[in-house]
Amino acid sequence: MTQAADLLDPAERLDLDGLRALQLERLRGSLRHAYENVPIYRESFDKAGVHPDDCRSLSDLARFPFTTKADLRENYPYGMFAVPRERIRRLHASSGTTGRPTVVGYTENDLSMWADMVARSLRAAGGRPGDIVHVAYGYGLFTGGLGAHYGAERLGCTVIPASGGMTSRQVTLIQDLEPSVIMVTPSYMLTLLDEFERQGVDPRSTSLRVGVFGAEPWTERMRQEIEERFAIDAVDIYGLSEVIGPGVAQECVETKDGLHIWEDHFFPEVVDPLTGEVLPEGEQGELVFTSLTKEAMPIVRYRTRDLTRLLPGTARVFRRMEKITGRSDDMVILRGVNLFPTQIEEIVLRTPGVAPHFQLRLTTRGRMDALTVRAEARPDADAAAREAAARSIVQAVKDGIGVSVEAEIVDPESLERSVGKIRRIVDLREHRG
Ligand code: DLL
Repeated sequence: MTQAADLLDPAERLDLDGLRALQLERLRGSLRHAYENVPIYRESFDKAGVHPDDCRSLSDLARFPFTTKADLRENYPYGMFAVPRERIRRLHASSGTTGRPTVVGYTENDLSMWADMVARSLRAAGGRPGDIVHVAYGYGLFTGGLGAHYGAERLGCTVIPASGGMTSRQVTLIQDLEPSVIMVTPSYMLTLLDEFERQGVDPRSTSLRVGVFGAEPWTERMRQEIEERFAIDAVDIYGLSEVIGPGVAQECVETKDGLHIWEDHFFPEVVDPLTGEVLPEGEQGELVFTSLTKEAMPIVRYRTRDLTRLLPGTARVFRRMEKITGRSDDMVILRGVNLFPTQIEEIVLRTPGVAPHFQLRLTTRGRMDALTVRAEARPDADAAAREAAARSIVQAVKDGIGVSVEAEIVDPESLERSVGKIRRIVDLREHRG
């Protein structure tokens, strides 16, 4: 099933040649805008010996230098802006795990483009004008809540600005106001699931039809779990504040085959994380974005640290990115083996006797790092079932990932619950000098 063409934006109806021509024109404009108005871009382009006029084809972008989170931090708060501060209508910020936050800004046109992209995402997810949309992404400096909110309004929906937290009230709101769409992190959706069950409400009985989940990595297994437990379609939304917020890429409900990147506004590349070399389509590497239309904060070749691969378009002309495996920051190197929390998620979710809640605890054992998978028992799992689950997780990690870990099955409801982005890794390693 493809969507009726009359539901699509003009850009979604372009053919590939039309799209590439539009991108090149916009890319040249955006590089010029950055070069002329942001001193650090002028410096870095000059240093690399490139000028916006050197960009004659889309592949010429590879000649331009990368931008990293460190550049944003060093130019905190307003140094990356390309327009006078008075033209900035909104600021968002990410707290970051260490040090200074990073600040991003939007002009009126940027906010409007962003709302259009979230509206497009929501439509691809199966939302329609007139739907009631429950937004449980956090409102505030995080881009999730407000980004989703204005996009849903733009599509012509009725928005419930629930934000994150006050979980029991969320369940009441969903029952009373009868939203058909929910936008929330997948981990908080699981917290809601527990709360439905605690209140004795069947989560499959709600008015919800579609869930638009993102802001953190989640797996196909998690999709199955959420779809079954809630009787909804679960689709993936991706974005990051440095590029705009939610609505950079979205999975289409009719195919659920990875996320279509809205590349008429955000141009993707995948590069080798070590060498920075652009990789051919289909190869796994680090996702890099260049904004094509942003005014307040154009961003050139931003290193997201997110690992994925680019694939040709299916339900849309735009290229897809595969569901994100993880961030290079979240990769654990255990005795030489690379491991991502998503790999453990796949294993925990298919293990009988355990709930979909887990944590990875890293410790130091002598001179070695050790990893313990802590997963929660399902309420009906007895001691024997817990032991079997622990053994099965250890074996599956050994067979599938090739490294020895320990597994501990903890009591139901004993692991910390998410209200937004979940933290999977608890690092208790001793720092060795
Ligand atoms: O998380 C924006 C967002 C809000 C996206 C709501 C989707 C829904 P940041 O706080 O700047 O922005 O964090 C961006 O979150 O680089 C990824 O590592 C991760 N991330 C976002 N969406 C996904 C996803 C928002 N669908 C960082 N799958 C990104 C995996 C995701 N990781």
